[in-house]
Amino acid sequence: MFDIPHLDIPPLTSAGGTVRLPGSKSISNRVLLLAALSVGHTDITDLLDSDDTRVMLEALAQLGCRIEPQADGALRVHGLGGQLPVPQGKLFLGNAGTAMRPLTASLALLAARHGGSFELSGVARMHERPIGDLVDALRQLGCPVDCLLNEGFPPLRLGDRRVHALQLDEAIKVRGDVSSQFLTALLLALPLVAQEQDVVIEVVGELISRPYIEITLNLLERFGVTVQRDGWQRFTIPRSSQYRSPGRIAVEGDASSASYFIALGAIAPATPGTEGITIEGVGLSSIQGDIRFVEAARLMGARITGEANRLHIQRGAWPLKAIDLDCNHIPDAAMTLAVMALYADGTTTLRNIASWRVKETDRIAAMAKEGRKLGAVIEEGEDYIRITPPARVHDWRAASIHTYDDHRVAMCFSLAAFNPARQPVRIEDPKCVAKTFPDYFECLFGVCATPTPDIPVICVDGPTASGKGTLSAEVAAQLGYHLLDSGMLYRLVGLAAERAGLSTAEQDLKEPAQARRLGELAAGLRVRFKGDRTLLDRLDVTDSLRTEAAGMAASRVSAVPEVRQALLALQHGFRRLPGLVADGRDMGTVIFPDAALKVFLTASAEQRAIRRHKQLISKGIAANIDNLLADLKARDLRDSSRIHSPLMPAEGALQLDNSGMDIEQSVQQVLTWWQAKTVFSGN
Ligand code: DC
Repeated sequence: MFDIPHLDIPPLTSAGGTVRLPGSKSISNRVLLLAALSVGHTDITDLLDSDDTRVMLEALAQLGCRIEPQADGALRVHGLGGQLPVPQGKLFLGNAGTAMRPLTASLALLAARHGGSFELSGVARMHERPIGDLVDALRQLGCPVDCLLNEGFPPLRLGDRRVHALQLDEAIKVRGDVSSQFLTALLLALPLVAQEQDVVIEVVGELISRPYIEITLNLLERFGVTVQRDGWQRFTIPRSSQYRSPGRIAVEGDASSASYFIALGAIAPATPGTEGITIEGVGLSSIQGDIRFVEAARLMGARITGEANRLHIQRGAWPLKAIDLDCNHIPDAAMTLAVMALYADGTTTLRNIASWRVKETDRIAAMAKEGRKLGAVIEEGEDYIRITPPARVHDWRAASIHTYDDHRVAMCFSLAAFNPARQPVRIEDPKCVAKTFPDYFECLFGVCATPTPDIPVICVDGPTASGKGTLSAEVAAQLGYHLLDSGMLYRLVGLAAERAGLSTAEQDLKEPAQARRLGELAAGLRVRFKGDRTLLDRLDVTDSLRTEAAGMAASRVSAVPEVRQALLALQHGFRRLPGLVADGRDMGTVIFPDAALKVFLTASAEQRAIRRHKQLISKGIAANIDNLLADLKARDLRDSSRIHSPLMPAEGALQLDNSGMDIEQSVQQVLTWWQAKTVFSGN
């Protein structure tokens, strides 16, 4: 996950490969609640791990529900069987509408029936999202519900610790034209109190987002409750209903999340050697309404085929075809059409999307404002959005996209990186995708390609113990870039030589046969990086690599041209999307001479010896400053006087003497230099 202030996406060129989707948010949270309300335990597989599901899990645990991970990866939820072991509590539900609405309904009914009391609250935005229609329906039923700040909005207090008789004889009326989640909430909750009589719900006004109701009905059926439906107006929960665990249930991949990769396949040419994009985890027989995004994407020109649990997408018509579409049936995925519209041959209108205004943010306003930053002409109405792409290539602009803590805004606009003007796109607060798709950007970069020169590189070269390792790691973390610690590769060669019984003594390395053997060893290095650990021939060698002896051996083997040559391809392979920070001695001079920013980091030898001393002592390793200083100087001399790739500042490198700076200041300096190099420096 990219927990950074912003993520710069370089211009992208093509896409191809397979994406496995995370579980559906809508299904995950419904299944969790149903499992918790059921009799018996349920093993749930492929559950989405995201902010919204975590909120639901925490709430259920607080209510006394036992939840245990199983060895096979499933999550076992022990159902409460409609009981209320913990009759009161305060639940914080973040910005998760799929937790707030159904928990409100279920807990209001249970509190009234068993004499409980609960307070439900969320983040500030949650307190602006209407829930009045659901509150009205629950009050009709005889449940005490108080709105604690503003009438019609969370936070709410449900129940007053007294038992209340419920009025179930008359049909319960609920509005269906603001959010289908109110009806879903009642459908999920009412089977808890339908033991003695049929319970009828009547929808007032036209029901929006019907596919989500279908998901609800489908899952109720899996948990033993069959609701009778008359059109979309009247729903009857039969008497003697009781939730029973299906034993085991698998969560489908998220069809709304699929929309970004369907759009990707429609927008991007297939990367040579691939046949476009394959999506696994959701397919044409999905129970999720957003699967109908497939039809909309086809209208715009995408070529899509599929099976039950898989989809294949290739670019068809290009430019895409502008459309005029009622999107009421795919409210969430329709946002993705708004970004596809940027690549269309005319003006696209998306209609009947008033519900966008009450989602994580006002999505009509957000899509219009951010889309305009890219150069599109956008008109917004109360319940529609009309998008005309930038007229000419040079009308596209590099934009810093504000994301309003809305995962879908962030995911949608990442696709603007395919703009023909080859401008990068900045996504602010990229971690907001964690709401439904924590690894979204990793998945995106995993299937996208762009010519190597477009992948940004920052080089940090300098002498030993100048602090470049720490600095580079921190800069990479702040930008969400990959990290190449090239010194580590030379250390690995030194270690591998020692293990293979090859001498790394200076005079031996002068022998051509010995140099050749060492080059072969370097070329066949079997190395893997796993988190912050380094594996050589499957053995964890992280700690041995950090020793002074390993550093000295590295310095000796690194003077051998055959070794340097052998490590070239390995080093170039680190240049992957979205960017790279590379540290070493010759990053700017030899390995990445086209890097956009080259830093030459130095500090006085004395200062470096003191730092190294501190570092060793803190690890409990005995050290002597004078010896360290002598070693440092010997290494500086060898690294900078060798014939091949000697240590020296690259042309155009910015020098940073950090003798008097702490690491924080050095990092800030490099980030400031980098920011000035980006097209976003004026923002
Ligand atoms: O940065 P370090 O201390 O881990 O590097 C160990 C040795 O590897 C260093 O003394 C010289 C060599 N090296 C190199 O020659 N070229 C690089 N790009 C990085 C390291």
